[in-house]
Amino acid sequence: MATGERCGALVHWGGRRGPCMTIEINGESHELPRDPRVTLLDFVREHLKMTGAKKGCDHGQCGACTMLVNGQRINSCLTLAVMHDGDSVTTIEGIGSPAAMAPLQEAFVKHDGYQCGYCTPGQICSATAMLQEIAAGWPSDATADPTDTPKLTREEVQERMSGNLCRCGAYANIVDAIMEVAEGEAA
Ligand code: FES
Ligand code: FES
Repeated sequence: MATGERCGALVHWGGRRGPCMTIEINGESHELPRDPRVTLLDFVREHLKMTGAKKGCDHGQCGACTMLVNGQRINSCLTLAVMHDGDSVTTIEGIGSPAAMAPLQEAFVKHDGYQCGYCTPGQICSATAMLQEIAAGWPSDATADPTDTPKLTREEVQERMSGNLCRCGAYANIVDAIMEVAEGEAA
């Protein structure tokens, strides 16, 4: 079944009957939960048992739960799974694996961009989308002239990653890792 297609069955949605809905997670289609109160984060972690994305605050304040939805980063603790019928979601499991790491994952290892690692999946998902935002010319609060193409500076990266907290304080190394990948992509 392709993502976004109705699966044909009528299911219960909060006491009412309606068509089942689907979501694509890392390229695989899944039926969305029938309980409309389930967040996207809980759906992925508790229902699908993909535990890469972390629950830090459950209030949209730490970024540990960051996932990409249709290529854009979001806090998955702040959105309901049923709002994502037909969407394509990428979690850290879809970005790379220990056997086939993405460049950002390799750079985090190389630069010691983590200590406990709890924030790391969110940092890497966020950085993945953030580099695309810079490439697309989206300005940030650190962009001196919002009408100009944003420059790839540490200040830009720090500002754009400010929604991802690291309780271990590995920030300097996280920025080093991101800058190495960004400069490699820009070269
Ligand atoms: S767990 Fe979602 S922002 Fe903290
Ligand atoms: S590495 Fe521990 S919270 Fe960031």
